[in-house]
Amino acid sequence: MAVAADVVARTLAVVLAVALLSPRLVSSNSEGDALYALRKSLSDPDNVLQSWDPTLVNPCTWFHITCNQDNRVTRVDLGNSNLSGHLVPELGHLEHLQYLELYKNNIQGAIPAEFGNLKSLISLDLYNNNISGVIPPTLGKLKSLVFLRLNDNRLTGQIPRELVKTSSLKVVDVSNNDLCGTIPTTGPFEHIPLNNFENNPRLEGPELQGLAMYDTNC
Ligand SMILES: *[C@@H]1O[C@H](CO)[C@@H](O)[C@H](O)[C@H]1NC(C)=O
Ligand SMILES: *[C@@H]1O[C@H](CO)[C@@H](O)[C@H](O)[C@H]1NC(C)=O
Repeated sequence: MAVAADVVARTLAVVLAVALLSPRLVSSNSEGDALYALRKSLSDPDNVLQSWDPTLVNPCTWFHITCNQDNRVTRVDLGNSNLSGHLVPELGHLEHLQYLELYKNNIQGAIPAEFGNLKSLISLDLYNNNISGVIPPTLGKLKSLVFLRLNDNRLTGQIPRELVKTSSLKVVDVSNNDLCGTIPTTGPFEHIPLNNFENNPRLEGPELQGLAMYDTNC
């Protein structure tokens, strides 16, 4: 009896250890891989990404990266860093990321739809770049998002109505782009000043309730 119980206990201990450790190791590596994919996609004349070494066990010691106590990435702080190149869909794997700060660079190309998987994201700051394409409707999945600053880029298309359901949103700035259609007026958009939509020559002003769906001028 005692021997059998001991074997069971040991087996359980091993199973438990594996269950607790492996997701953590796997996720640390995958977060480093996701960030390294970003590094490879960017041109970095000032070498601000020099410490981003993918052979380290996790990215938590890299400059401009902050992690929580479980070594999961919570912040990427690369504003004003003279970076150019493209964003990468792999960033969508950073499920504990709260702050993505990439403002005042010269990043071009689209915002990956996969950013809608950043379920902990509080702040998406991509203002003052050269980003084109549409604002991905998947951003409407971000239930913690408070700051969405996309101003001073070359974004086109409508302001996705999916964002109207993001009740956590406090600050939206999409001024100085090339958006079209109308400005949402419900949900969090009730409290966003109209200045934050200015200088979009094709944007037509606040929508009439419910009429956005029929906007074909865009
Ligand atoms: C930014 O990078 C360019 C090269 O792409 C360089 O000529 C310029 O001096 C850099 N600017 C700053 C502020 O570091
Ligand atoms: C912005 O990106 C476009 C390509 O999408 C490029 O032709 C243009 O030179 C870029 N602007 C600046 C200021 O780098």
